[in-house]
Amino acid sequence: MTTAIVGVGNIGSSVARHLVAGGEHVVLTAKDESRAQALAEELGPLARAASVEDAISGADVVLLAVWLDTMRELIPAYANLLTGKVVIDPSNPIGFDTAGQMTRTLPDGESSGSVVAALLPAGAHYVKAFGTLGADALAASANRDPLAVLFYATDDHTAAIAIERLIRVAGFEPWKAGGLAAAGRIEAPGGDLHQYGLNGEVADINRARSAAAGFAA
Ligand SMILES: NC(=O)c1ccc[n+]([C@@H]2O[C@H](COP(=O)([O-])OP(=O)(O)OC[C@H]3O[C@@H](n4cnc5c(N)ncnc54)[C@H](OP(=O)(O)O)[C@@H]3O)[C@@H](O)[C@H]2O)c1
Repeated sequence: MTTAIVGVGNIGSSVARHLVAGGEHVVLTAKDESRAQALAEELGPLARAASVEDAISGADVVLLAVWLDTMRELIPAYANLLTGKVVIDPSNPIGFDTAGQMTRTLPDGESSGSVVAALLPAGAHYVKAFGTLGADALAASANRDPLAVLFYATDDHTAAIAIERLIRVAGFEPWKAGGLAAAGRIEAPGGDLHQYGLNGEVADINRARSAAAGFAA
């Protein structure tokens, strides 16, 4: 299986490092292809860089590690190539105001996942994942004992199988928060199962179980 990682910033580079450490093939792409090339060289033979078009074409799974506004442009532009692929969406409805304060970019109750899923072609296998921890925690928490949990949300069986495998390969424990309707629970701001909704805690399986059931451990 090959995973295309579109965007090699905070989230994309971290997931790429974890997947390669777990023995997974990745194809990296970014707006500036030299950044993807530099990361591919750092990660070695399991990683290569490509254009966005070639990366998506050659992959089974596509992680869109870009901001929601970028997805609004990229998904329509590459919709035909995304048909039949598992598409992983880590986005949060987050922006920053002129004072640098975090703001919510979507109305309360509307998840970023619902926006991204609606942009995708009908044949894509959508899953929300890899955005439930802040970037620093995601980078630092692979292969802990006990394993840190990464929540995911999907209505799609093919996507669920793929993301469970990739989360384990990356060194985490997968936990299904629910279907697409539960995407908002694992997004920030506002999601009770996002790291920020868990008071900054990186949950292990016991904490995830109690949190997902809706009561404090
Ligand atoms: N940062 C966090 O703590 C965090 C936590 C959870 C979820 N998320 C979510 O993860 C996503 C990515 O966040 P991030 O912090 O990793 O962002 P980032 O560091 O700003 O990286 C964004 C990446 O997108 C690439 N990109 C932009 N336009 C592109 C295009 N047209 N084609 C291909 N690549 C393009 C950029 O390419 P260049 O490298 O060439 O500029 C960059 O590599 C966002 O949706 C965010 O909400 C972030």
